[in-house]
Amino acid sequence: MRRALVAILALAVWLMTPMERNAAKFESAVREAGNPRDQVERMLRAGIVLQPRQLVASAMARLCDADGGPTEVAYGGARGGGKSHWAIAQLTDDCQRYPGLKCLLLRKVGKANRENFQDLRTKILPGLRTNYNKTEGTLTFANGSVIKTGHFQNDRDIDAYLGLEYDVILIEEATTLTKSKVDDVLSCLRTSKPLWRPRAYFTTNPGNVGHAWFKARFIEPWRRGGESATRFVQATVNDNRFVNREYRGRLEGLTGWKRRAWLLGDWDIAAGQYYTTWRHGTHVRPDIGYGFAEPDWRVWLSLDYGFAHYTAAYLFTVDGDGTVYILDEHAQRGWLVDAHCEAITAMLERNRIARHRVETILAGGDVFKRESDGERVADDYERNGFRLERANMSRVDGAAEFLRRLGDVDRTPPLRPSLYISDHCSGLIDCIPGLMHDPRRGEDVKKVDCDDDGFGGDDYYDGARYGLMHVAQPAGSWGSSPIDDDWRG
Ligand SMILES: Nc1ncnc2c1ncn2[C@@H]1O[C@H](COP(=O)(O)OP(=O)(O)OP(=O)(O)O)[C@@H](O)[C@H]1O
Ligand SMILES: [Mg+2]
Repeated sequence: MRRALVAILALAVWLMTPMERNAAKFESAVREAGNPRDQVERMLRAGIVLQPRQLVASAMARLCDADGGPTEVAYGGARGGGKSHWAIAQLTDDCQRYPGLKCLLLRKVGKANRENFQDLRTKILPGLRTNYNKTEGTLTFANGSVIKTGHFQNDRDIDAYLGLEYDVILIEEATTLTKSKVDDVLSCLRTSKPLWRPRAYFTTNPGNVGHAWFKARFIEPWRRGGESATRFVQATVNDNRFVNREYRGRLEGLTGWKRRAWLLGDWDIAAGQYYTTWRHGTHVRPDIGYGFAEPDWRVWLSLDYGFAHYTAAYLFTVDGDGTVYILDEHAQRGWLVDAHCEAITAMLERNRIARHRVETILAGGDVFKRESDGERVADDYERNGFRLERANMSRVDGAAEFLRRLGDVDRTPPLRPSLYISDHCSGLIDCIPGLMHDPRRGEDVKKVDCDDDGFGGDDYYDGARYGLMHVAQPAGSWGSSPIDDDWRG
């Protein structure tokens, strides 16, 4: 009976015309994405037939309607995934269903492309009557809803579009803008319309000046499966069957970081990435939990001190085979030494490491410098019971050691890593793949400070690098424990 049913179904599919088959595929993609019926029908009437990943992004956009739903949806993360097409399609969906909606569409274009929006909307919305005002750059719908198009090449061009209020803002190529500029734009997102939740949509590729904030805001929660205010829908050129052969050929011909970013949509890259052998799925080990270090493994701490910048402290161990594990991280800005010491003590306690097991606490040279009052930061630590020791600060040696220990899992045969990081070290995990080559000294990692919001700095890396260099020290070459046993943090 079941076999007969399958045979009948197969025959029915075979008898379908290609058009019917496409319609059936589309229906099943809509069901899977969970798009509301009215959304699909409205788009079809406008002449838009979205592809499966685009349908998912549009379904996510509708989640913004509900109280407690997301307010920001990002689509793409690689070249050619149909981002620009989706952007116009989604704004069209919103504009059609809410009369009088005001949308801002910020497009990244070269000067020559400024006028191309008109061609684009004729191509994407063939079935819809809209009125395009070239001078104003506005697309007006029959129900009074408007899309204002703005064009930018960099941060500076954005200011021309600030000051007005918008119900929806869509930023294309969002990583080409800094976080503070995006914040400026989003301050224009307000509504006085009943039953409308203001929302922002983004499309983008990895890399560029906005890589770090975008990754922190969208990619990390998506990877963790912990999205709340945001949703990210990944799409690469493989999700776009309309892309032409030449375009795909160009992407497939790319090498190195560009291939990883633009073809594969890999967020663990940045232009000139230093640690190209970093693989999140390999080096980050969620199984390195508290209590991971065996009682006979060596244990030590390292820290890079900062006040305006982060103080980043790491807890290390090494197993009998010489594999190093970074067990935990403490990173804070604007804290006084006492508070850091308390937090580091808490870190040891949650990892079930007794203080006397800590071989050493290595710190960068700045903590040993005398300040104008003759005091050293190291003295402050000492008063809290933490005796800091001078780390090997050679940047080039530290970078080489990091690189060596990451191995190369893509090589045949693979080169096994000898460094693993617990997923408790979120700052370091975020920082490593974003580190760049220093253009003036290729074998070094470029020094970068975090921005005003704390994104993009390398304090985590410096802190961990100091600790990593210690493993070369022979066991037993250190003196007594650097933390006073009687100190109660
Ligand atoms: N649903 C669709 N229906 C028809 N054509 C589509 C659809 N989605 C994308 N395309 C076409 O595929 C091509 C590439 O899409 P699009 O320009 O939107 O990609 P993109 O991700 O913005 O690319 P880039 O990274 O270069 O900015 C365009 O010609 C676009 O019109
Ligand atoms: Mg595009």
